[in-house]
Amino acid sequence: MADTPILVTAALPYANGPLHIGHIAGAYLPPDLYVRYQRLKGRDIVFICGSDEHGAAVFMQAMKEGVEPQAIVDRYHEQIQSVFEGLGIAFDYYGRTTSDTHRDTSQAFFRTLEGARIFNRKTQQQLFDPEAGLFLADRFVRGTCPVCGYEDAYGDQCENCGSTLSPSELIDPRSAVSGAEPETRETTHWYLPLGNIQPKLEAWIATKTDWKPNVRGQVGSWFNDGLSDRAMTRDLPWGVPVPESVDGDVEGKVLYVWFDAPIGYISATKEWAAEQGDPELWRRYWQIHENGTTPDLLHFIGKDNIVFHTLIFPALLMAHNEVDADGPQWTLPANVPANEFLNLEGKKLSTSKGWAVWVHEALEVFAPDVLRYGLAVALPETKDTDFSWADFQARVNGELADVLGNFVNRALSFAAQFAEGKVPQFIDPNDDDRAVLDALTEFPERIGAAYEQFRMREAVQETMALARLGNKYFNDAEPWHTRKTDPQACANTIHVALQLCASLSVLMDPILPHGAERLRAMLDLEGVRSSEPGGTEAPIMWDDAGFRLLSSGDLLGEPAILFEKIADETVEAQRALLEERAAASEAAAEISAEPDVAPYAPLADTITFDDFTKLDFRSGKVLAAEPHPKADKLLRMDIDLGFEQRQVLAGVRGHVEPDELVGRNVIVVANLAPRTIRGLESQGMLLFAENRDGKFLPVFTEAEPGSTVK
Ligand code: MF3
Ligand code: ZN
Repeated sequence: MADTPILVTAALPYANGPLHIGHIAGAYLPPDLYVRYQRLKGRDIVFICGSDEHGAAVFMQAMKEGVEPQAIVDRYHEQIQSVFEGLGIAFDYYGRTTSDTHRDTSQAFFRTLEGARIFNRKTQQQLFDPEAGLFLADRFVRGTCPVCGYEDAYGDQCENCGSTLSPSELIDPRSAVSGAEPETRETTHWYLPLGNIQPKLEAWIATKTDWKPNVRGQVGSWFNDGLSDRAMTRDLPWGVPVPESVDGDVEGKVLYVWFDAPIGYISATKEWAAEQGDPELWRRYWQIHENGTTPDLLHFIGKDNIVFHTLIFPALLMAHNEVDADGPQWTLPANVPANEFLNLEGKKLSTSKGWAVWVHEALEVFAPDVLRYGLAVALPETKDTDFSWADFQARVNGELADVLGNFVNRALSFAAQFAEGKVPQFIDPNDDDRAVLDALTEFPERIGAAYEQFRMREAVQETMALARLGNKYFNDAEPWHTRKTDPQACANTIHVALQLCASLSVLMDPILPHGAERLRAMLDLEGVRSSEPGGTEAPIMWDDAGFRLLSSGDLLGEPAILFEKIADETVEAQRALLEERAAASEAAAEISAEPDVAPYAPLADTITFDDFTKLDFRSGKVLAAEPHPKADKLLRMDIDLGFEQRQVLAGVRGHVEPDELVGRNVIVVANLAPRTIRGLESQGMLLFAENRDGKFLPVFTEAEPGSTVK
């Protein structure tokens, strides 16, 4: 239905690193093409994305860099957003999952489901990293994939075969944080009972016969295996806190990032609506209208996100709809056009191996349209595809420059030279002139059909076909001859060629928005609807591009080169850069294969100043130190606090020699309740610093015994 609202989402990128071309080809360029096309069709469409700022991956990056997670997401949120802008990925709104709206929205969603007892609470043994003091969920644990044997699978997913996993399924698990062999500890989590929901999901997916075969195939195989329940909460110090109102201990628990992130689409739409000055407008795109109109929800993603968008998020929406059956009903995704992966020069893209083209860097060298084009022709729509610099150069030079650019250039320079920079009169056209204009009428629909069916590469081909048609027509008409022999025929050729350029400036717009705008300026063509968000109400739209958009006598603008060719040196430099990075990261990997530096211990919970002042630290002189007679880890010491003498036990044997302590002034926690260990009473505690290798070093002071330490 033409007036059905459409909400398009692009997978929220994790704000823990820069974007590479694989991200763009997988999840961002395809929806941008689609949305720009639909905007030109005049459809009621909103395009939503944002930064995915929670989850183990973000937290881990912060640990790696030794900074707060907030610093990481602030940095990459900015960077990612500017890359999208530079490339012309034109979201209506780009949000972030650390926003207040998002916290409230995802907590409310959780509360509704929890209140209706949708989740099963399970207490289980989970992997715990004794060195880092962290539960090892998801990406914190790596090991061998039980499905395909890939040795570096994550705890939640195998990047190699795409299987979703749980950490306990990994063979030979190890902590991705410290490399330590994990222990198990008990913890309680809230599980989404996907097993019970499976029949409903199957019935729903069965109606989705128009979904891409790669998506249906994946989903079908998960159904065959049987869905297992998945925890919707995590023990992590970073994320949306599990709301306090639920019963059970929520201390230290956050919502699973794959619970909160898709809800991020909703939160971002809410923020968009508020920005439009109509805070309730988001409902139009998310909820079934009172008259039954169901908005079209389209999730554009890469293949590693399929399970979350076709099963888990829909299951959550379905459950919410049932719980709140009298309330507004969520729309379920109408389609999830997932892409496969883009490889690079025949190898899998890999951040860690340095095998990637970073978009912010590529944008310093190539015009955004050139990158868009090079990626659009290589989109991994039905299977993995390869991006190579040689292909990139060949396609840009051979197609963008030689076909499209050349055609536009010829039409415009002929008009400038031989038609006084105007659209010439069109009189007594011949059969070829008519045939081309006839053929033109079919392009908007043909290209549009490809977009509607998420066949972006086909849409690109069909668009280029119009430029090819133009070139052939121009060649066959030989206006450089007719200029002398039959001036009106020459004028007609220029007229028709200019009309094709004008139509191209609309039809190429989704793929090449910047070039399209430049072309319209060269043609001095005004009144074309913008494919940007909140574009004007300008009258010329997609379907109009099937007809003549220029009038005889219209003045043209200045002709200019539309797309520059890429020089050999430029792509050679890119290839060299790639090899260099790969070699550097291989060298780095060898170094880090040597014994690992242990991470810093995570910071303890904040205490108040009052908490701190409860502790009475004193300087004390070690009078004697010797092994505890009955405990092999303990030292027994006599300590002079000035005003009194104490016996203190410390578990530091093997870390420090008794001789190193005797005669030195140490720091004693002097108001700690005494306790007896193996028959001896310990009347205080000594301060030691534990370094990253787990070694205890005494803390000495110059202060005389009895001095307070604060
Ligand atoms: N951050 C995820 C990724 O990059 C995608 C999140 S999509 C959302 O793989 F639906 F959760 F938002
Ligand atoms: Zn696998």
